Amino acid sequence: MQDAAELQAHFAEFGQSHVFRFWDQLDDAGRTRLRLQASGIDLAALARIQANLAAAAGAVPSELEPIEAERLPDYGGDVSRASRASARGDEILASGRVAALVVAGGQGTRLGFEGPKGAYPIGPVSDRSLFEIQAQKIRGLRRRTGHDLPWCVMTSSATDDATRAFFRDNEFFGLPERDVLFFCQGKIPSLDFDGRLMLEAPDRIFENPDGHGGCLTALAASGVLDELTDRGIDTLFYYQVDNPLVRMCDATFLGYHDEAGAEFSCKVARKTDPDEKVGVLARAAGRVVVVEYTELGDADRYTRDDRGELVYWAGNLAIHLLTIDFVRRVADDADRFLPFHASEKMIPHLDDAGKLVEPDSPNGRKLERFVFDALAAAERVCVVEAERSSEFSPVKNADGTDSPATARRDLIASYHSWLTAGGISPADSSAAIEIDHAKIDGPVDARGLGVRGAADAGDAIRIASGDSV
Ligand code: UD1
Repeated sequence: MQDAAELQAHFAEFGQSHVFRFWDQLDDAGRTRLRLQASGIDLAALARIQANLAAAAGAVPSELEPIEAERLPDYGGDVSRASRASARGDEILASGRVAALVVAGGQGTRLGFEGPKGAYPIGPVSDRSLFEIQAQKIRGLRRRTGHDLPWCVMTSSATDDATRAFFRDNEFFGLPERDVLFFCQGKIPSLDFDGRLMLEAPDRIFENPDGHGGCLTALAASGVLDELTDRGIDTLFYYQVDNPLVRMCDATFLGYHDEAGAEFSCKVARKTDPDEKVGVLARAAGRVVVVEYTELGDADRYTRDDRGELVYWAGNLAIHLLTIDFVRRVADDADRFLPFHASEKMIPHLDDAGKLVEPDSPNGRKLERFVFDALAAAERVCVVEAERSSEFSPVKNADGTDSPATARRDLIASYHSWLTAGGISPADSSAAIEIDHAKIDGPVDARGLGVRGAADAGDAIRIASGDSV
């Protein structure tokens, strides 16, 4: 930690001396806290980011081309190609080279839920959490492959303590503790429109998590990347905590990724409508890019081809495969490959009198890195189309689209379709039902159960009381 006088002089050089304006009123503990936090902020780097933001403003690629993707057989893809990819993926899983990575730095604020989003109760019958559903899927994979499948859980300073406590209180959902690798993403200060830091308390500078792209640098900085390498892992399956339908470490996706020799692969699904709030995969200057929904121009957003299909159809599901070598390369050169994006926010802060101001219009910029920017660093990218209804139903809003209600509806629909495929009755589509993913994680498992009725499947299948069996 730097000496207080040196630190204040250094901040003054960068026009940030106001950070210490309550210094005289702070007690020793407060001064230590502020010195500690301020010492960790790289002002020169922040100034560079600020300068790059100005240069990058409006840098959304203007000349886009549509993306081509590996199609599922259901959408005209080649059946034998898909089954070869699936067999290849099974081999990769059986060789124990894969780990899962969930980005779980977000809180449930938009859902009106206190705590990490992963703790949100989503199970249609038992209210089990997003984390528990995902843990069950990992347990199922471990059982099927006979390998430890490490689960890397990225938290943020806002969710770290609560997430670890949630896992401990739930006995790691039946997973060995050593195979759950927590790591915390970095933070970066927000800036007001003049590029000045803001105080949220007399002894605290306002910082926010550095975006899901921060997972790549934090994996390296935390030592988790080295641990994965030591364990013989060479591929990471990346997904967002908010999607309970995620097909964990999907073998077909792995197979396509491997056959393409890709460093970074993306799953996409057809946008439901032009205004759906998903990023879009496209090509720009020959490279694969993700254009955020906020940045896609109207001409590209609404253009349709001769068959009436959206030309920019490929919605980003935020489900990726990345090689460990690639993650290391990007993390080592993060300033180049993971630029910061700014979004205008209303940021509560102290005024000169020390009064907390809660603005009612944006007063500053939050800075974030996006994982998909790393696409620019990849020599080879593979894009695979997914079956949306069985793989993607994110929990983002308290009601309406992408809400707990739509995610539960889609989970129940998936469960019913698995049972139907497995010849298990009843398939009363109105019954709220829940399946333990550690025991049944898809139609193949349902068929393998060899039972005729849901009641014969023991605790693998739960039906809400009051509903018919
Ligand atoms: C994101 C993608 C969008 C994609 C959609 C799919 C961006 C900018 N856009 O949108 O292209 O189509 O998901 O659902 O990401 N997170 C962290 N740390 C952070 C920020 C986010 O761990 O600092 C995690 C959250 O916990 C969440 C995920 O990243 O799991 C997505 O964040 P969110 O802000 O919800 O992204 P969207 O705007 O929905």
